Amino acid sequence: MNDYLFYQSAVQLPTVARAEGIYAWDTDGKRYIDACSGAIVAQLGHGHPAIRKAMMAQLDSVAFAYRTQFENQPALELASKLVELAGGRYDRVFFSSGGSETVESALKLVRQYWVCKGEPQRSVFIARKPSYHGSTMGALAMTSYTPLTQPFQPMFQLYPKISSPTQYRVPQGKSAEQHALDCADELDAAIREVGPQNVAAFIAEPIGGASTGAEVPHDAYFARIREICSRHDVLLILDEVMTGVGRTGRWFGFQHWNVEADVLCLAKGLGAGYYPVSALVTRAELTDPIIASGGFQHGYTYAGNPLASATALAVIDVIERERLVENAATNGDYLLGLLRQLAARHECIGDVRGRGFLLAIEYVADRATKTPFAPALKFGERVTRVAREHGVIVYPRKSLMGETGDHTLVAPPLITTRAQCDEIAERLDTTFRALER
Ligand SMILES: Cc1ncc(COP(=O)(O)O)c(C=O)c1O
Repeated sequence: MNDYLFYQSAVQLPTVARAEGIYAWDTDGKRYIDACSGAIVAQLGHGHPAIRKAMMAQLDSVAFAYRTQFENQPALELASKLVELAGGRYDRVFFSSGGSETVESALKLVRQYWVCKGEPQRSVFIARKPSYHGSTMGALAMTSYTPLTQPFQPMFQLYPKISSPTQYRVPQGKSAEQHALDCADELDAAIREVGPQNVAAFIAEPIGGASTGAEVPHDAYFARIREICSRHDVLLILDEVMTGVGRTGRWFGFQHWNVEADVLCLAKGLGAGYYPVSALVTRAELTDPIIASGGFQHGYTYAGNPLASATALAVIDVIERERLVENAATNGDYLLGLLRQLAARHECIGDVRGRGFLLAIEYVADRATKTPFAPALKFGERVTRVAREHGVIVYPRKSLMGETGDHTLVAPPLITTRAQCDEIAERLDTTFRALER
């Protein structure tokens, strides 16, 4: 009985007792498959002994040291590891604890950069619709997901939003490539309308997260985006909070197209659910003018503390040693195939998509017209509830501005085996059969 704690809704949930690998057990002993890594976080699954060992060792030396008083070895090592993994021109890292915090940090870094460069009029940030960049005010101002933004709209600035590309609802008469290029060209139009001299940056998720349901842009999209940003001297921020750290079968989502951004935002899988840790990866070209002006006027108490950094280092080490990025790519493909087989059996499935272990199933009332279920049916929530009854945890959202377009994210830990992919697909099959009854 929950008397005091409240989160988003009144739904009564089972109480978790323990978790191991991709499974969790509640206090009644019922077992669940964690088919969404919590909130697409638990990259290594639960209870990994190497992470426990690294965290215990760090606790035994020093758990917390404040960034204005001490350097710490794990943070220094983590920064160089992230620079190595990101490759390209990245050579500066800034830590925080969560996804929203790293997005806020990116916005403020870019803004202060332009102030220091003598272009203080550059204050406009362009983002996409739909999108999700976090729950704090700056990140929310970048977000387009009506239920989450509407109540708070008067509290933040209305920035220009351009269409997120889709490969599922491509406008009639257009190819997927033309649609992607048209979406990218909306950026060019938005920059021109505001005046390029006023635009600070454009922010996007490389592969859509919860707000689009793992929408993978057409291969032509990011090359055009990069070209437009460069032409107008507008910085490019890639929000890799969900796509980063191996989730999509590459270390980072941008590596599917080798698009060079100016700032990368990482969180979720970096701490993999063992400790909150997030990072912004950028270039000295941006940070040098800020440091020269007296420093970045921004920071968080827990940023880059030794325990957070040691945890993330251990997470990366396990991902490398167990070849989990490769596993996400190959077994993610395998799971995608299984989910497509489900689509052949269940009329309610309109689309199955994604990359690596960031996959989504979108539901429709009518396949031919791609008409979504009426919001009152709460179809996605029903799928989640019935799936939970059948022992599988999935993550529901809506792909049409958060209002309709029910979808389910299927994003198991990167350790998931083929046999476990089979188990996930079987339980979802049972879930859909139960729903159809
Ligand atoms: C793309 C993206 N950015 C930012 C965030 C915010 O992260 P957090 O919930 O850790 O603040 C999320 C969370 O789902 C996300 O998916």
